[in-house]
Amino acid sequence: MSSTEPSQWAEKASIYLETLDLPRYTRPRLTRYLISILAFLSLIVFYTSHQPSLLISEPEFPSISIYAANNTNHLPHIPPKIWQIYLDYTPYAIMPYTSYIQSFITHSPSHTYTLLDAHGALSIISKLSTSKTHAHILPLFYAMSRRVLRADFLRYLLLAIEGGVYSDMDTEMLRPLHDWVPDEYKSRTKLIVGLEADQSPPVGGTTYEVQFCQWTLAGAAGHPALWGMVERILNEVQKRPFESPMKDVEFSDEEVLDITGPAGWTEVVYEYLSKAAGEEIGWRNLTGMRSPRLFGDILVLPIDAFASGVPHSGASGPGMGEAFVKHQFQGSWRGGDH
Ligand SMILES: *[C@@H]1O[C@H](CO)[C@@H](O)[C@H](O)[C@H]1NC(C)=O
Ligand SMILES: *[C@@H]1O[C@H](CO)[C@@H](O)[C@H](O)[C@H]1NC(C)=O
Repeated sequence: MSSTEPSQWAEKASIYLETLDLPRYTRPRLTRYLISILAFLSLIVFYTSHQPSLLISEPEFPSISIYAANNTNHLPHIPPKIWQIYLDYTPYAIMPYTSYIQSFITHSPSHTYTLLDAHGALSIISKLSTSKTHAHILPLFYAMSRRVLRADFLRYLLLAIEGGVYSDMDTEMLRPLHDWVPDEYKSRTKLIVGLEADQSPPVGGTTYEVQFCQWTLAGAAGHPALWGMVERILNEVQKRPFESPMKDVEFSDEEVLDITGPAGWTEVVYEYLSKAAGEEIGWRNLTGMRSPRLFGDILVLPIDAFASGVPHSGASGPGMGEAFVKHQFQGSWRGGDH
């Protein structure tokens, strides 16, 4: 490197320009021209030599949910995700439900909200298509001819894969998810189930004295009771004779209730409650309960939690008592093409 100062260079350059005998007015112009070229060249050199450091590489994130960490408004095991399903979605079709949808969103800051249509549902199931153990679910799903069967099945599968809260379109959230679980159970709760009925003999339209509802469910991804229910449904569907996956398999309303509906779900829940308790748990253990009970990692909520306002089972008025979700009973799935 020369020790020559830039000012000396400028001096030399101007002396050189003097010797060139150019018309006076061209000298400043020529100087500006040279400076522009130099600036342009140095910019190119700067950008080409610095380019790699401008590229942003992908950062590594912790595997736990960023929303759930240290957030007292979230449950430690149940991810902050809300799911609803409307397989025949159109903007017009969901209009009657917009205030209910809003109730879930407004009570659930930093939760994701997803309304699944048929394509979205398929993309969830397709996650399993490369799995060695679960790829068979896709053709069996297609074999479920009735939409209600598919919608029922999807809620268990969805929570088994993703975790979070599932709730029917005709339900309204009254209290946020973290309020559903008493503080002393928060660190242990991985599945939340509520009652649909609690009466002996069973309420009309139900099968068991104490029957669990499946219009609202919450759970950690991978909970064995959710997979147990998925497996149970698949076994039933598989029993039906069908040659090709696209051929319809007929199920009656009663069968739907038994297989994918509340009766089937109730049997699975009792099975897992019994496993957790290490003894047979039946309806007599749960009847008349007024506060939540934890069996292993399964939290059972009393009738008012999801079924306030029903005219039986000792339930409080609509939205009264410890009501967390209000069911509007607008389900019109029976018969027809559903
Ligand atoms: C979050 O919780 C963990 C363990 O419960 C604790 O070690 C950590 O300091 C907490 N972080 C913040 C930001 O509070
Ligand atoms: C369930 O009920 C039976 C009697 O019906 C009783 O012996 C048992 O202790 C109860 N178990 C629990 C966990 O409440």
